[in-house]
Amino acid sequence: MPNHLLLKVAASDRVRGLVASSRLAKPVVDRFVAGDTLEDGLAAARELRTRGICAILDLLGEHVTDAAQADEATEAYLAALNATASEPALGAHVSVKLTQLGIDESFDQAVARLRRIVSALPENGHPLARVAIDMESHAYTDRTIEAYKAVRPESERLVLCLQASLRRTEADVEALLGLTPSIRLCKGAYDEPGELAYGHAETAASYRRLLAVLLPASPYTAVATHDEACIREALRLAQRRRIPRDRFEFQMLYGVRRDLQATLLDEGYAVRVYVPFGAAWYPYLMRRLAERPANLRLFLEAVVRG
Ligand code: FDA
Repeated sequence: MPNHLLLKVAASDRVRGLVASSRLAKPVVDRFVAGDTLEDGLAAARELRTRGICAILDLLGEHVTDAAQADEATEAYLAALNATASEPALGAHVSVKLTQLGIDESFDQAVARLRRIVSALPENGHPLARVAIDMESHAYTDRTIEAYKAVRPESERLVLCLQASLRRTEADVEALLGLTPSIRLCKGAYDEPGELAYGHAETAASYRRLLAVLLPASPYTAVATHDEACIREALRLAQRRRIPRDRFEFQMLYGVRRDLQATLLDEGYAVRVYVPFGAAWYPYLMRRLAERPANLRLFLEAVVRG
């Protein structure tokens, strides 16, 4: 579960300015972010592919403030899809945030941008190429699900991320099952109020309950976690319910648990890594630091060492 205090401190403009302008943050940024450009993201995807892992390319950026920025993000995603189409062996996905596509300005325009991105999925590209929608804080859950529902009939290759930490998610899954949804199940990285979200242990229990619903019902489930108990539960369910290996995959974050990625690959399971790239790394990095005290220590040590 995220460290609430760190996420609050990180939201301050002063702290953001200090960290973002500090060269000292660079080694920590480099661990979690592939680089500033699409080419950096593709280079990371190629390196992962040599290890048998496919990538999810994520252009960093969220909460754009005008339509021009949202259009720019859309063009960047179209360029990413174009690039992955010319390298189908990468088998890469892209993942978008609706606040990056302008949902704060206009829901309809954000959906139109999402639709453009989804319709650019190359017909002749890798059969497993997909577009995923990241799930942001609870203020966006309803709108994100609505956007998914609006575009899902046009493509089976649209994936929705849902968060096991939210108390509402089991009901959301039930309501979505009629659409045969492809779901990426994560725990949730945002600082949510207690009345809406579970604590640490309850989130893990919710994750396991959601796996039990999604794995048998969904054509494709992305088990997006580094929690070994949840991963083992997914494997146990898949074996017990005889769910073919091409109906689910394990997903992890760039820079996190390479050892576990390798173990799952050795066991013959599909592993995909979420590869963020772009200059707007600050909120993403803060979420990664907030997930794990050891990461925060690493970061503070780098700053102190100078
Ligand atoms: P948990 O936090 O319990 O960690 C389990 C173990 O994993 C830790 O003990 C540690 O070993 C390792 N670990 C976890 N995070 C680490 C880190 N940052 N650094 C080092 N080690 C770490 N969230 C969201 O709200 N919306 C989204 O769209 C997505 N999308 C997404 C895609 C993919 C592919 C992944 C893997 C994750 C997300 N997330 C996300 C993030 C997710 O919600 C969650 O915050 C992180 O995955 C951490 O939670 P775990 O499930 O790994 O469990």
